Amino acid sequence: MNRPIVFSGAQPTGQLTLGNYLGALRQWTAMQNDHDCIFCVVDLHALTVRQDPALFREKILDLAALFLACGIDPQKSTIFIQSHVPAHAELAWLLSTFTMMGELDRMTQFKDKSRSHAHNINAGLFTYPVLMAADILLYGTHKVPVGEDQKQHLELARDVAVRFNGLHGKVFVVPEPLVTGGGAARIKDLQEPTKKMSKSAEADLAKVMILDEPDAILKKFKKAMTDGLGIIRNNEASQPGVVNLLNIWRAARGASMEEALKHFSHNQYGRLKVETAEAVIALLEPVRRRFQELRADPTELEGILARGAETAMVRAEVMMERVLTALGLPLHGQRFRRARGDS
Ligand code: TRP
Repeated sequence: MNRPIVFSGAQPTGQLTLGNYLGALRQWTAMQNDHDCIFCVVDLHALTVRQDPALFREKILDLAALFLACGIDPQKSTIFIQSHVPAHAELAWLLSTFTMMGELDRMTQFKDKSRSHAHNINAGLFTYPVLMAADILLYGTHKVPVGEDQKQHLELARDVAVRFNGLHGKVFVVPEPLVTGGGAARIKDLQEPTKKMSKSAEADLAKVMILDEPDAILKKFKKAMTDGLGIIRNNEASQPGVVNLLNIWRAARGASMEEALKHFSHNQYGRLKVETAEAVIALLEPVRRRFQELRADPTELEGILARGAETAMVRAEVMMERVLTALGLPLHGQRFRRARGDS
């Protein structure tokens, strides 16, 4: 029985929030049993903005450790660092010759980033979606869990795959988006609860980070924006702050809105805030502990990542052989022996 192949990646930039945990990471870990999951720290993508090398190295390892701490299991899934597998950059070049300037020019993320990084609009920022297409297509990926902001990039990956296949035969699987069930979209900024909780929010009180200490979490929830109505109802239009707390509480507890409303029928905002903080602390404390353990012991983490890279590399090479062959590029004598298993 072949499990569908799932590929997902995250950039090692900025810390991840409770919104990322509930909306993405928790969904990823839940898919591990019935999918063949590949999880990647996309460090090459992060180079499209300037990074301090020493800090960057730590951020990359931090994100890998965080993936593991959140429950990604290297026995079930492949977890690795993008730059460990050279085929990503190699395939990106090949695919760039199947990607039109006009297509890249339409990408809204490129337009946004050109505005926010006006002093450094490098070619990598422009071709970023091609590298992302390579990540996905390299593994014969069937499904890609994506948030709203990455849908356009996935659409481009599909178009490139279809174009390549049309010219050179059925080499790539055309990936489908897997719209993950609303979690992240639902978790809102604690200070401006009509906006999504974003890792790039300026205000510290606006977002709960996955690695926040319990005291910090409690403080942030106590200061969360609510309203003066003094009633706990599920009315997002008039009480976005209260509804956000209800949603967070029930996401952390695995409860329905009905159960949440019943539980908080006392209408006391103070208790809603503290109990939501407690539920989040109970959820994140084990993650934080496991993260610290992993970061304290570089050998364990390096071992896991080396094995992940090895697995990913062998899988990627299978696709590279097909792509190079399809394009008429002469194969290097030794290169594909190992991937074919006849080392
Ligand atoms: N562009 C994605 C983001 O910023 C990260 C990413 C890179 C990715 N390659 C990917 C996501 C492949 C899914 C699949 O969130």
